[in-house]
Amino acid sequence: MDLLNVFDYEALARERMDISSWVYYACGADDEVTLRANRNAFERIKLRPRVLVDVSQVEMITTVLGTPLAMPILIAPTALQELAHPEGECEMARGAALAGTLLVVSTSASRSLEEVAAAAGGPLWFQLYITTRPTAQRLVARAEAAGYQGLVLTVDTPRWGNKERAARHPLTRGIHKANFENESEADLPDPSCTWEIIPWLRSLTRLPLILKGILTPEDAQRACDYGVDAIIVSNHGGRQLDGVPATIEVLPEIVEAVAGRCEVYLDGGIRRGTDILKALALGARAVLVGRPPLWGLAVNGAQGVADVLDILRDELEQAMALAGCPRLADIDRSLIRLTHVS
Ligand SMILES: Cc1cc2nc3c(=O)[nH]c(=O)nc-3n(C[C@H](O)[C@H](O)[C@H](O)COP(=O)(O)O)c2cc1C
Repeated sequence: MDLLNVFDYEALARERMDISSWVYYACGADDEVTLRANRNAFERIKLRPRVLVDVSQVEMITTVLGTPLAMPILIAPTALQELAHPEGECEMARGAALAGTLLVVSTSASRSLEEVAAAAGGPLWFQLYITTRPTAQRLVARAEAAGYQGLVLTVDTPRWGNKERAARHPLTRGIHKANFENESEADLPDPSCTWEIIPWLRSLTRLPLILKGILTPEDAQRACDYGVDAIIVSNHGGRQLDGVPATIEVLPEIVEAVAGRCEVYLDGGIRRGTDILKALALGARAVLVGRPPLWGLAVNGAQGVADVLDILRDELEQAMALAGCPRLADIDRSLIRLTHVS
C-alpha cells in the first residue's frame, strides 16, 4: 500500500495494532461529538488563495519560545506510546529529531523522562499532570535536570474524560507509567487544582510555562494575566468534555483576546497541510499533532514518525505555494473565506 498521506498511516497502524491499543488511541469521550467536530470544522473552512506570487522558494522554518524548528508542527503529548512501539517515547523522540521538530513528553509516558531525554536528538518539553504537589514538584525538578526546555501544564483534566469506546475494549497489555514508582499515584488528577498552581510552578522552575487545554477567551486572558509564556488551544483531541467546540472554531476569538501577550498554538484534528495553513491563518503560531505521529510510530518506528511529519510539512509547503504564501509571515486572516468563524 502506498503511504501517500496521514490517513494511509492511520489505516496501516490500525491493521498492525491490537484492538484495545488501537481503540485507546482512537477514541474520544462520550458520543465523540467533539472528536468528529475537530475534523469537520477544518473541512468547512474555505481558503482564498492569491495568484501570481513568486513561490519558487517556500520557507517554513520557525521558532516556538525561541527554539528553532524546521516546521511549525510539534508532536503533542500522548500517553503510553509503548502500545505503538516497543521503545515507546524513546523511539518517538528519535523520530521528532529526524523531522527537525519538538516532542512534548507526557507525564503518563511508558518510558521515564530521563530515558526519553537520553534517546532524544532534538528539543523536548515536558507535559505535566498535577496529581499531588509533591509528585509534581519532583517531576518538574527531574525534567529541568534532564534538559527539557519547557513545561506544558495540561489544564483540562480535573478528572479523566469518559472514554466509553476504550472502556469496552480495556487494555490487555499492562503498560507501566514509567515516571512513577507507585502506579496509583499516576492515576488521580488533583481536582482541587486552581490558577494558584501557576505562581507555585513559577516558584519551582525557570522553564517557560505553556498551558494546554484553553478553549475560551476568558481563560486565555487569565492565562496571560498570570504571565504564562504560551497557550495551546486544545480539547485534548476530543477526549475530555464532549460537546466543546472544535479548536479551530474558537481559535480566532482566543487569538484576539490574547492580543500578542503570549504565543498561541493549536491542536485537534490536524491531518492535512491545508489544516495547518488554516490554523496559521487564524492566528496560531504553530500546531501540534497527537494521533498522526502515533500511527507513524506503530507503522515504522522513528522513521514512520519522521515520514508522517514530512508528509505534513510537504503538504503545508504545497498549500503555501498554491495559496501564494512563500513565507509563514505571508499567512494571515485574509486567506480565510469564512462566515461562521467570527
Ligand atoms: C492516545 C492519546 C493520549 C493522550 N495523552 C495525553 C497526555 O498524556 N497528556 C496530554 O496533555 N494530552 C494527551 N492527549 C491529547 C493530545 O496531547 C492532543 O491534545 C490531541 O491528541 C490532539 O488531537 P489529535 O490527536 O487530533 O491531533 C492524548 C491524546 C491521545 C489521542
